[in-house]
Parts: sequence; structure tokens; C-alpha cells
Amino acid sequence: MSDTVFPRNFLWGAASASAQIEGGWNADGRTPSIWDAANPTQIKNSENCHDACDHYHRFREDVALMKKIGLKSYRFSISWSRVIPEEGKINEAGIKFYSDLVDELVSAGIEPMVTVYHWDMPIWVFEKGGWMSEKIIPLFRDYTKILVDALSDRVSWWMTMNEPGCFIMNGYMQGVHAPFKRNYFALSRLSKNCMLAHAEAVKTIRRYSKKKPKVGVAFSSGAFVPPNDSPDEIEKARRMTTETSNGLMSNRWWMDPMILGKPVRAYGIYHSDAKNMEAICQPLDFMGLNIYTSFNYAGWGNGKEIPPEGTQKNSLGWVIDERCMYWNVKFMYERYGLPIMITENGLAANDIIDKDGKVHDPQRTDFIRRYLGQLSQAISEGIPVLGYQHWSVMDNFEWAEGYEPRFGLVYVDYKTQKRIIKDSAWEYKKIIETNGAEL
Ligand code: BGC
Repeated sequence: MSDTVFPRNFLWGAASASAQIEGGWNADGRTPSIWDAANPTQIKNSENCHDACDHYHRFREDVALMKKIGLKSYRFSISWSRVIPEEGKINEAGIKFYSDLVDELVSAGIEPMVTVYHWDMPIWVFEKGGWMSEKIIPLFRDYTKILVDALSDRVSWWMTMNEPGCFIMNGYMQGVHAPFKRNYFALSRLSKNCMLAHAEAVKTIRRYSKKKPKVGVAFSSGAFVPPNDSPDEIEKARRMTTETSNGLMSNRWWMDPMILGKPVRAYGIYHSDAKNMEAICQPLDFMGLNIYTSFNYAGWGNGKEIPPEGTQKNSLGWVIDERCMYWNVKFMYERYGLPIMITENGLAANDIIDKDGKVHDPQRTDFIRRYLGQLSQAISEGIPVLGYQHWSVMDNFEWAEGYEPRFGLVYVDYKTQKRIIKDSAWEYKKIIETNGAEL
């Protein structure tokens, strides 16, 4: 094997989320989540996630595909309402699904990585106030405990939640994701409830886990990319990335309290309260970073630059700029000092089935190589990166955007539920086999 900077046990994987792939929305005692309840006007082309990729019924086939691609790890989330369909009721069939999935992964040699919450809140939790109410803190703790009891004999990797910034921004501020609310004034309260629920989950995982756990969060993250290598520009980008970017889509809004125990103020009106910091700041083993694009052009990261003409974008219009991988990882490690797991990174495209029956997606292969090239640069400078979970293992339900944007390594024909391994997945397999030597 030629030279590689990737550590020997690097977790080359892929990721998904329950609502985006499972389907089986009312199977075996599951009750609806806030996403099942979205009305047709709230989702592009009036689509819904009721059947999605039918992974609930096809998970064995899907794990076999993951094995074919050579994945070493698989990050997935749990549907809360499959496990607890109503308050106080545990659904054994729901637990069995995840337990069987974990068994299937382990016997395929794939490391399971569990996200406790990836946006699909049960309706019954929402009706108790959802993230607006402090009641969610013990509910989230008890839910986590059930998962830990059921899975922690085989699962070591845990993420308490996925991108709190996104589900609060999209779901409670801009009203474009479930539960489709708009309440900017509640930001401090919503954030506090999320952070305290996260902290309770961390403590629960540590306390009850049968295997020694590795606990983290998957943050939606971003960095300003400096225009050149001058120390001044780098320092400016670092400051904008970690100190001056503001509000709930900034890195520090979540990471400072959760990792450093430091309260944050934003726009003079929002704040995290110093008195909660001790409870919120629980020791973590890694930080998960979901990295797609740089903050320079992304309004949600307070970016102001207009992308130059001809800038490459994915099918959702997000700028493709692999340099953000390097700078994001570097700036986060400098500030937070935790080992890093890339919990998401991927490309939305309008993939099609060729007349030869295959899916040729050279742009995704190129994207993977470019972003991994930047990641390898960060690793070669000594930053501890534990793995890379490509988003996504298969095409899936892209929330309010429906099924049109395809992010998968595996193509899904939603009418027939036929899967096709895309060319990029075969290329990713080679990268995995050479531990990143051939990028
Ligand atoms: C989310 C995923 C989503 C992906 C692409 C991330 O923000 O965690 O659920 O599909 O981005 O939009």
C-alpha cells in the first residue's frame, strides 16, 4: 500500500437518518412523527416520508450493499416514535428493528454509530411542548436510556443529536421544516432545552452503557475560507469562524456551551445562561462535524460574499468548495481540542440511470476526492480525525426538498425500491481499500 496519512483504524463510512430512509411509518406499532404529519404544501412536489426507501423492510439488503461498498462504519438515527409510540409505552417491535439492524451490521464487520435524535420528533412529544418545553429534558433522557439498554452491548459510538442549529432554525425560526413554526423570540429557550437534553443524554449513555462509549454530537458546522495564505487573512477567517459569527447557525452558539461551558450572546438579545453551563458542559469523546460548504457564501453562516460567476454548485445551489473541509477541521480543533469525526459530507445531484443500467456520477467521485484531499491535509498536520461518514449511504427524503436531490452512494428507484450502486461508491470502495492512499 502506498503512503497514506489516514490512521489505521480510520472509520470510512456513510450516514443516514431514520425519517429519510426508513418508511414503515405506521408499521408494527410506530406512531407518526412531526415529519409524517407535514402537509403536502410544506414539502416539494407534495411528497412525504411515509415510505421513503422502505429501509425498515429492506435493511438486510441495504447492509449487504454497504458491505459490498466496503464501508467500515454506518451512522444511522433512531425513530423515537418507533421505540416509544406514546408516553410511557415501549414498543418491543421497534427496539427489535434497531437491534436486528445492529446485529446485521456487526456481522458484516461494519461499526454501528447511533444518532439518538435526527429531527423526527414523535407527535406526542411535540404535543407536550417539543423543544419549547423543559419537559423534553427528562423525556429525552428516558428515551436515551431505553436505547442504551437495548443497544450498548454492541454499539460504542453515540451522537446525542444531529445539528441542533438546523432543526431549531428551520423548524422553529424560519418555519420551513417540521414542526413549521416561526418564533424568533424563543431562541434562547429552545437552545437551552436542547443543550440540557443533550447533557442528560450524555450522562445517561456514560452511566448505563455496557461497552465503553464514545459520545459526541453531530454539529452543522462551517468555516470562512481565507482568500490566501497570509497570516492576517488566516487570522481573520479564524476569528470570523469561531468568534464573531453570530446566532444559532454559528459554530460557537452550540459548541462553546456544550464543549467549553462558555455562555454566548448573540445580537444583544439571545443568550445562553451562565448558570446552566455546568449542567450543559458534559465531557465528550469527539465532536461530529457535518461539513458541506464554506461560510463565505452561506447566508446562514453570516457569509456575505457573492460567489464569482461560474462557481460550482450542487443541485441545491450550495457552493462546492473543498477548502472548507481543511479550514473547518483546523479551526474547530484549535478552539475545542476534541478529536473530530466527519459525521456528514456529500453532494446533491440529479443522478440518472444510464442506458447501460448503471448510475455514472463522476461529479460525486470528484467531490469525494477533493474534500478527502483537504481532510488528509488536516490529518497530516496532526489533527486527530477519527473517520468520515459520507452523506448519504443511499438517495433519500431530503426533508422539505422531497426526493429530487440525490445524495446517495446508492441510487434508489422510489417506484420499485430497486437499488443501484453508483460509480462513486465503487470509487469510494477503492479509497477505503487503500486507506485513502489513492485519492
Ligand atoms: C442533515 C441531513 C440532510 C443533509 C443534506 C444535513 O444538514 O443532517 O439530514 O439530508 O444535511 O441537506
